[in-house]
Amino acid sequence: AMDPVRVLVTGAAGQIGYALVPMVARGAMLGPDQPVILHMLDIPPAAEALEGVKMELIDAAFPLLKGVVATTDVVAACTGVNVAVMVGGFPRKEGMERKDVMSKNVSIYKSQASALEKHAAANCKVLVVANPANTNALILKEFAPSIPEKNITCLTRLDHNRALGQISERLKVHVSDVRNVIIWGNHSSTQYPDVSHATVKTQGGEKPARELVANVEWLQGEFIQTVQQRGAAIIKARKLSSALSAASSACDHIRDWVLGTPEGTWVSMGVYSDGSYNVPAGLIYSFPVTCRDGEWSIVQGLTIDEFSRKKLDATAEELTEEKALAYSCLS
Ligand code: NAI
Repeated sequence: AMDPVRVLVTGAAGQIGYALVPMVARGAMLGPDQPVILHMLDIPPAAEALEGVKMELIDAAFPLLKGVVATTDVVAACTGVNVAVMVGGFPRKEGMERKDVMSKNVSIYKSQASALEKHAAANCKVLVVANPANTNALILKEFAPSIPEKNITCLTRLDHNRALGQISERLKVHVSDVRNVIIWGNHSSTQYPDVSHATVKTQGGEKPARELVANVEWLQGEFIQTVQQRGAAIIKARKLSSALSAASSACDHIRDWVLGTPEGTWVSMGVYSDGSYNVPAGLIYSFPVTCRDGEWSIVQGLTIDEFSRKKLDATAEELTEEKALAYSCLS
């Protein structure tokens, strides 16, 4: 039998946490044969709710679930974890300054970075979901210097999946027949959903999505805005954030990272920039990646036209500013 993998979910009593933990326990993240032990962390005001989630996990009698740790103690939560999904954070509230929100998250991610560095399993893979996701991941990286930078990522797979969904709706094709969209940059409204290299499987073979949509105005306008604003549209409709799709996409992110991307398919991940595509090195930026043997690599050699270049640069600029803001919170 396979040894269980320990999966940490922070903010586990929250909305995304509640959607995510049963997916992990059912094998949606690590595969249908991989036993798991769930570590769930939240803060003391949510401790009772967290206990309730633990009760439900027991009641659901998941065959793959070999144990549950539900705790408000960061050290207990991080000890021995192989995968860490960081969903807990401080949300922006009405009337709060950006700097105040950043400052709260910087201090959370600084302390959780240290706990992971000291107590997680060697080679632990980290996915930051909580916003500002890219910059929280960067802070985590800075304060966990012994965790290799290639092990620290943030979630833009939800945006990626939203882009696939919009193309599939537009062309009335199955979403699984669309591939190789790209989300560039920040998980924010400056992200750039790019279909320049996307393809669609048709009866006549694989065709460029651009050619099939045949409407540049829509692709460069409404499509981009719809993907960028989708989170807000869901909050408006549900009065709650997009928890189901965020949780599902977090599973996609880890699954592809650990088990590999299908041949010829790439996905979007927020990763530490090495300067590819002239994106400033040292930002956590969303790139197209392929994964193999548990490691991602940035897809190289894609042509970037002038329209795309501007979009790549604008979202990089926002991330550079966010980084400066985060650093100003440290001093
Ligand atoms: P939520 O407010 O329902 O849950 C957040 C949970 O985190 C709460 O239970 C809270 O008590 C907990 N928490 C707060 N501080 C913590 C700490 N220091 N340690 C551990 N837990 C802590 O929020 P929801 O809807 O689950 O969203 C979570 C985060 O994910 C938010 O930051 C949201 O903006 C972000 N998000 C990111 C997406 C992405 O694609 N990257 C998509 C959707 C949401």
